[in-house]
Amino acid sequence: MAAQSIPIPPPNSNGKAPRWTQPVSFYGQSVFSKYYAQSICVFLLLIPFLVMPAQAQGGQGPIVGQPCRVGDYDATVDYFPEKTTVDDAALFSVRYEKNYKIVTSSAAGSSKVNTYVLTHCGTPAPDASLFANNTVFVTVPVTNAASIATTAVAFLEMLGKRSAIKAVDTEGLVSSPCVQYGLDQGEIIGFEDKNLNLRAEQFKSVDLIFSSFGAEPGTENKTVVTSEVSDPGPLNRAEWLEFYSTFFNLEAPAQKLTADINNNYNCFKKAANEQTTKPVIAWTSYVAPSSYNNNTASWTISGAPYKEIISTDAGAQFYNGTDSNTFTIAADFANALKDVDVIIDETMSGEDIESFYKNYELTASSPHKFIQNKAIFRQDGIVNPNDGRDWFAGAVVMNDAVLQDIVRTVHPEVLPADVPYNWIRNIAKGEVKKVLTSADCKTTDSSTPIPDRALVCATMKAGGNAGSKTVAGALTAVLGLVAIALTL
Ligand SMILES: *[C@@H]1O[C@H](CO)[C@@H](O)[C@H](O)[C@H]1NC(C)=O
Ligand SMILES: *[C@@H]1O[C@H](CO)[C@@H](O)[C@H](O)[C@H]1NC(C)=O
Ligand SMILES: *[C@@H]1O[C@H](CO)[C@@H](O)[C@H](O)[C@H]1NC(C)=O
Ligand SMILES: *[C@@H]1O[C@H](CO)[C@@H](O)[C@H](O)[C@H]1NC(C)=O
Repeated sequence: MAAQSIPIPPPNSNGKAPRWTQPVSFYGQSVFSKYYAQSICVFLLLIPFLVMPAQAQGGQGPIVGQPCRVGDYDATVDYFPEKTTVDDAALFSVRYEKNYKIVTSSAAGSSKVNTYVLTHCGTPAPDASLFANNTVFVTVPVTNAASIATTAVAFLEMLGKRSAIKAVDTEGLVSSPCVQYGLDQGEIIGFEDKNLNLRAEQFKSVDLIFSSFGAEPGTENKTVVTSEVSDPGPLNRAEWLEFYSTFFNLEAPAQKLTADINNNYNCFKKAANEQTTKPVIAWTSYVAPSSYNNNTASWTISGAPYKEIISTDAGAQFYNGTDSNTFTIAADFANALKDVDVIIDETMSGEDIESFYKNYELTASSPHKFIQNKAIFRQDGIVNPNDGRDWFAGAVVMNDAVLQDIVRTVHPEVLPADVPYNWIRNIAKGEVKKVLTSADCKTTDSSTPIPDRALVCATMKAGGNAGSKTVAGALTAVLGLVAIALTL
């Protein structure tokens, strides 16, 4: 049960394993993707310390899938009356036959396609010779699965399928309270990392393995490769709920969940983009000198499409550095940030504003707007006791809640007053991490879907941290229209 089995970057000065923060934008297989695996999870049901000013999104009842039909196989029957249609995601597909479905996945920028043939339980699988020889055959619904890429856990818990999670890797970084509880109770196995024979034995205990990094030797015929993190847009990522749903015959509820996320996302997007200002936002990070980078410190401004899309949708102007996005001289980096209003600091280590100043070689009196206006945020607002970040789990699926968090950084006036943060906390204002433990697991019913963290945008009452701003903004807009009308 070692906490970390994967290649991770070198330890930082605290001696703690650092956390890559880049994964939200990684492309292809890399060490960044490995980090994703670390942060299993989801939380929810923990809510005690969350005060929701508007009704929370989600709250759907028990999710019921299409039942397994055994006996009396009839080749003319459509065993999958509820079908999924892929609208936003670019990296998976689903096609239905009468009693089996063909699901594919691929990695961004790769021509390799992974094929899965999902046969309804109690009916005959199609002839394997009809498919590529690396096709993985699965009987659905699956009841006994493992998650190597721990992002999968968040998707499965949202579908109410925690009951199907029998094992996880990098369990020390799981953020889900109930999966932490399951690990504590021995109901869920943490994969062995050092003893590879034991690890191989453990793999035999599950029927299916969800992984972001390809199959480990011996598990080729039951590994499902997922790439939700590289599907380049917030709604693309959320739609991977539908990918996961195919393994459990949960297409109808998954479509509903995705539609709810999309609608809520688009409502936040609309409200934020009605604002007249477009604060400039940059997602930045610092990498300390080490043997991995020729002992050269560097500072980077991210240009990741995912971040650009969600920033723009939050009513911000996304800043990628324009001419250059990587710096080895702190002063050049500071100069590049001179017009930036809001920073999302993605540095692995450095939890508070003092570390931020140190890493960025800035001070409280630096003239930057993000410093003077206290607009410096980090993605570690929800973690487990080992600092395993839910940003790499729940935030990959609940993109309406992520957008809400980003709107909070640039247009708080759109949201209810004092709206709580989820993952994106303001270190300049001393907002603290919320640490989730197994004690936060409030139901041992493993079929209870975890709710989305987002507010219901349509019913929220905007008020913001300065309610008058909204009124003033509206007034400006009205006067603007009058002015235009007068000029015409
Ligand atoms: C699978 O097919 C590829 C070419 O299509 C071939 O190179 C490979 O040897 C085959 N593998 C097996 C195990 O049959
Ligand atoms: C997968 O391969 C193993 C041997 O490596 C075999 O025992 C098992 O039956 C195979 N499973 C499926 C579903 O083909
Ligand atoms: C590493 O740093 C040394 C000294 O600063 C320099 O001479 C060398 O070119 C650098 N190597 C690389 C690969 O950047
Ligand atoms: C920033 O984005 C613009 C527009 O997409 C692009 O032309 C430019 O090369 C990007 N800058 C960097 C440093 O990637």
